[in-house]
Amino acid sequence: MKGLHGKVALCTGSGLEGGLGHGILKRLGEAGCQLVVSDLDTIMTNGGTRSSDENPVVRELLDAGANAIGIACDVSEEASIVGAVESVMSHFGHFDILINNAAIGDIIKPLTELNLREWQQVITVNLTGAFLFTREAARVMDNGASIVNIASQAAKTGFRQMAPYVSSKHGMIGLTRTAAIDLASKGIRVNAVCPNHVTTTMGKAQSEYFSSLRGLAPEAYRAQIAERVPLGRVGRPEDTAAAVAFLASDEAAFITGEALNVSGGEETH
Ligand SMILES: NC(=O)c1ccc[n+]([C@@H]2O[C@H](COP(=O)([O-])OP(=O)(O)OC[C@H]3O[C@@H](n4cnc5c(N)ncnc54)[C@H](O)[C@@H]3O)[C@@H](O)[C@H]2O)c1
Repeated sequence: MKGLHGKVALCTGSGLEGGLGHGILKRLGEAGCQLVVSDLDTIMTNGGTRSSDENPVVRELLDAGANAIGIACDVSEEASIVGAVESVMSHFGHFDILINNAAIGDIIKPLTELNLREWQQVITVNLTGAFLFTREAARVMDNGASIVNIASQAAKTGFRQMAPYVSSKHGMIGLTRTAAIDLASKGIRVNAVCPNHVTTTMGKAQSEYFSSLRGLAPEAYRAQIAERVPLGRVGRPEDTAAAVAFLASDEAAFITGEALNVSGGEETH
């Protein structure tokens, strides 16, 4: 991919092994990016028992030869986001690629049983966090920078019992389209990627919930998902990672405001 070597890329919610953020940073590291692993303090420092740079994802990226650091950041806190962007700038002196990936997806219940606090919690992390990080990063980014929002199939299609998550992800596409227009004059492109099911920590929790609703074992439920995907399998972190690398690269220099499905053909609009 053209134009990724030496770029500084931060991915929110990337400190959990096996998550999409982990896969995205691994792929960007292979392309020569300098990497910032960022996640909740509990995940980065294991409850204060180690430094952020000792997080297992940071260690793996360092062992693979990348220049990587860890920064604890809670995207539901504005001051935490401001602090993370300041840390990137003081460490690297530039900030070229932001991936808004952090999210919560385990508040799953019928709409009539949802309380306001649950609604606001999901919207705050998934959508407001992406807005605030986009704003803060765009203030320091130079011409040629790129922002990629990890939306979802749930950004385009409704799913039962997932009103806050689905609404936050639909909102992420609105944010992507608006930010693409507002930031175009600064030379910053903004796109979204929309994966379907991937068996990460979040994907596992969601598939366990929905499999139990249907009286199925989680593996049987995931096999059903794979059956309805034209390409015949569920997604993998590296599928999303490849799309992010493309959108962040100069190969996508004329692509902005786009929401790209990475769903093996399951999602087509
Ligand atoms: N797994 C799937 O099936 C799937 C499908 C479509 C989209 N997605 C999206 O992919 C992204 C990554 O999810 P994943 O599947 O890798 O799950 P994951 O659980 O591995 O990753 C989510 C990450 O977000 C972090 N996070 C949660 N609250 C945070 C906060 N307040 N501040 C900072 N970080 C926070 C978590 O600690 C975790 O590391 C999410 O945006 C998710 O909605 C996932």
